[in-house]
Amino acid sequence: MPEVSDNTAAALPTDDDVTAAAALPTDDDVTAAAALPTDDDVMGVLRGVIDPELGSDIVELGMARGAVVNPDGLVEVTVALTTSGCPLRAQIQRDVQRRVGGLPGVEKVKIHWSELTQAEKAAAMSKARFNVSQNAPDTAVPPTAKVVMVASGKGGVGKSTVTVNLAAELARRGMRVGVMDADIWGYSVPRMLGVEGRLAGAETEKKIIPNERPVGDGALEVVSMGFLVDKEETALMWRGLILNRAVQHFLQDVRWGQVDYLLIDMPPGTGDVQMGIAKMLPQAEMVVVTTPARNAQKVATRVASMGRSNYLRIAGVIENMSVFLDPEGRSHAIFGAGGGQELADQLGVPLMGQVPIDGSVATGGDMGTPVVLENESGPAADAFRAITDRLQQEVPPVDMASCTARIFEAAEQALANLDTVSD
Ligand SMILES: Nc1ncnc2c1ncn2[C@@H]1O[C@H](COP(=O)(O)OP(=O)(O)OP(=O)(O)O)[C@@H](O)[C@H]1O
Ligand SMILES: [Mg+2]
Repeated sequence: MPEVSDNTAAALPTDDDVTAAAALPTDDDVTAAAALPTDDDVMGVLRGVIDPELGSDIVELGMARGAVVNPDGLVEVTVALTTSGCPLRAQIQRDVQRRVGGLPGVEKVKIHWSELTQAEKAAAMSKARFNVSQNAPDTAVPPTAKVVMVASGKGGVGKSTVTVNLAAELARRGMRVGVMDADIWGYSVPRMLGVEGRLAGAETEKKIIPNERPVGDGALEVVSMGFLVDKEETALMWRGLILNRAVQHFLQDVRWGQVDYLLIDMPPGTGDVQMGIAKMLPQAEMVVVTTPARNAQKVATRVASMGRSNYLRIAGVIENMSVFLDPEGRSHAIFGAGGGQELADQLGVPLMGQVPIDGSVATGGDMGTPVVLENESGPAADAFRAITDRLQQEVPPVDMASCTARIFEAAEQALANLDTVSD
């Protein structure tokens, strides 16, 4: 098959990477995770902090000047801004705090602020312009999009269900939400969102236009392998051949447009897809879905530490299938209790919420209408809405208003300079 020779792609993990991933955290490593990160580890996570206006990460832009890890767990980071009054300062500060503070062993993060010199500023701007010229913005994930990978240690815990419900609820709140089904071979997003049809443009101009589902004032932009193959048997034939290529293709060659969020439904547990995404989208964060069963925590922890070793921030844990509410309103802990909280504590991240077992969740998935769009209220719909609130707090959408403020500031400065010249 000619495609075989085409099966290498620059940004993909090499075989070595994959082997390295397989050698990643054992259970013992996880327990020993209290060891401090190195200065390089800190610089690594800082690559996930994007200056939303310049569209590149602060390490590449030369804004992250350095990091020092003190033996007591205090990490000092020096960040130089383009102007000291930069309105994006609060946003960058929050991102640095969250990412560095999320590294195991870090007790406290202190940021020392400084300002780029004129020469450095010019270099950062030209770097940013170069990056923009390299990726036409309409063919890649916009740097302002918040990227959330929905992952789990085990299959069948409800990743896809959580992905589609959070995406649908964000869209209902007026946002444009990309949904990428990275579960290439076990895709279920098309059915769960009731979106079908082949992807337009996929064959002709090698650019994919997502299938859109308008929701209220917002919209879902959906991409899945299910839109590219006709039959499941065809999918099986492609297996392995293009697994990572498909994910890379979805990220690079899809016209996502100005999405506020991109939610990625991950295949269960695999390290290589996670690593591929982490490399291409350093701003990606992860939420881990688990059931309340306590013995499920070990595998979930492993997935989380795999994410961390790829410098992915873990935004929180979602416990699904937490309790079953009978018609009398009594709750039954069918799959055990406490697993979500335990995992969250272990990872040092918040438990973002618990979703009960509710028949309407499964029916909604089968009918293509997520329960948050079907029901105004109800135990599961309410839980998904509360988790969406939490997600918006933990992974806030980029506030482009402050970017505009910065542009106005620059314009005013330029005008002031003109005035001086004409005087
Ligand atoms: N809270 C819930 N209440 C009732 N049914 C649920 C709930 N969450 C998920 N389900 C059902 O459980 C099944 C598995 O869920 P889902 O497909 O979302 O899991 P997954 O983690 O994506 O699985 P896979 O690993 O196979 O991709 C589906 O049939 C779904 O409708
Ligand atoms: Mg799934």
